[in-house]
Amino acid sequence: MVSMDTLVSLCKRRGFVFQSSEIYGGTGSCWDYGPLGVELKNKIKHVWWRDFVQRRADVVGLDASILMHSTVWKASGHVDHFTDPMVDCRECRHRFRADQLDETSWTHYCPATKGNKFTIPPGEACTHCGVRRSLCPDCGKGELTAPRQFNLMFKTFMGPVEEDAAVTYLRPETAQGIFVNFENVQQSMRRKLPFGIGQIGKAFRNEITPGNFIFRTREFEQMEIEYFVNPHDTVEGRPADEYWHDRWIEDCLAWFQRYGVQEENLRLHEHDRAELAHYSKRTADLQYRFPIGWSELMGIANRTDFDLKQHAKWSGKALTYFDEERREHLVPYVIEPSAGVDRALLAFLADAYREEEVRGEKRVVLRFHPELAPVSVAVLPLLKKRDDIVRTALAIRDELSRRFTTVYDDTAAIGRLYRRQDEVGTAYCVTVDVQTVGDPDKGETADGKVTIRDRDSMEQIRVGTAQLDAVVGDLLGGKLWGEVAAQVGRA
Ligand code: GAP
Repeated sequence: MVSMDTLVSLCKRRGFVFQSSEIYGGTGSCWDYGPLGVELKNKIKHVWWRDFVQRRADVVGLDASILMHSTVWKASGHVDHFTDPMVDCRECRHRFRADQLDETSWTHYCPATKGNKFTIPPGEACTHCGVRRSLCPDCGKGELTAPRQFNLMFKTFMGPVEEDAAVTYLRPETAQGIFVNFENVQQSMRRKLPFGIGQIGKAFRNEITPGNFIFRTREFEQMEIEYFVNPHDTVEGRPADEYWHDRWIEDCLAWFQRYGVQEENLRLHEHDRAELAHYSKRTADLQYRFPIGWSELMGIANRTDFDLKQHAKWSGKALTYFDEERREHLVPYVIEPSAGVDRALLAFLADAYREEEVRGEKRVVLRFHPELAPVSVAVLPLLKKRDDIVRTALAIRDELSRRFTTVYDDTAAIGRLYRRQDEVGTAYCVTVDVQTVGDPDKGETADGKVTIRDRDSMEQIRVGTAQLDAVVGDLLGGKLWGEVAAQVGRA
């Protein structure tokens, strides 16, 4: 498995992710997506939206505002319950999550070795003096304060006056925008249960211990679905909420695998009673084997009727659904598949990373699924000196860019250009050479064909420029390289 340091360095060097406000020394736990990062992120969001919203007849979309009525957060329980226990070091003033202290390595000045400094792995005792951590894990000197509850929501003020009545919060999850619009969507779209509302958007949490690159940040993006079901229905002999919960777990697992995440790097984790959120009947996390170890990629929760009932109570609106068959008003249950875009991106990136040996040389390649590759096609001229080759390559890039993400590069020899594209996961390289345009000086006529090189197999095929758009479209649309190569013939 690739290390986090290798990924962070590749991301900076090749324009995927930069530290936010780097020239000012950086902002803790905030990251900026560079030219390739934004393409990758947009493609992840695009395929998620297409597969889970547009292609499903039972799901519709929403884009709710980030700032909401402050009572939303009282009703949802976030004002009272969205807290983490926090402790402070009395010496260095560093702050930690009390419940994660045993998962942090700790600094120790060992009395058995004349006060030598050691960094001891999480949860372990010093092998020289046998002592366990009791002081600050960072400085190894300060006492820690007793735990205090710390609310993770970012507070701000709505309007020009900074007074209590104007306090509001940056949303810590996109879900609540969906719950408060339940009635609007259900009625305007005439939806019958079961149906879902999907949303992609930013969320903010003032995490006490953010870190591990884009894994845990204070500003991140979520892709969430609230799938409303009739709790009185049964499907295949089981309560509808339990049936749909399992269906969504299967669908989410299959989705990550469809876009290339290897099966052995994914697993399910069932929350036990102590872990369950206050609103949840059952939650299963999809975990990924990140470079930091197995950790949550997304959660799929059964939130019951908690949220709709809470919002009904605080707003005074009924938020019920009329079941025509049973002639009764009821509050739907909700199944919530909730994924982080940034975490999904980190998983796709880590999973795609390979170091291979090709003809005695190391090749770093990101084997992204073709639909996720930040650049779909790189157009490369074999000879930069030949105006006709460059002109043709530029025209091809221009044409392909109407439908696909493309780049043009002529700043190195072809072998080097291929390696550069491999390292950022470009799905296909199209090369324009002398045969494409012909050579009048040598009496060679143009064949009007270009080579397409497949990133993973490094095989090449030769196709006419008139066919290029369609062939690339087939490849990105899911047709296998082998099938296309068999049709047009390998170069
Ligand atoms: N609406 C339910 C909800 O927000 P969650 O488990 O707190 O549930 C869902 O968050 C997903 O959002 C997580 O599985 C993770 O992918 C992402 N996420 C949560 N906090 C994050 C953070 N601080 N940084 C990056 N991603 C985060």
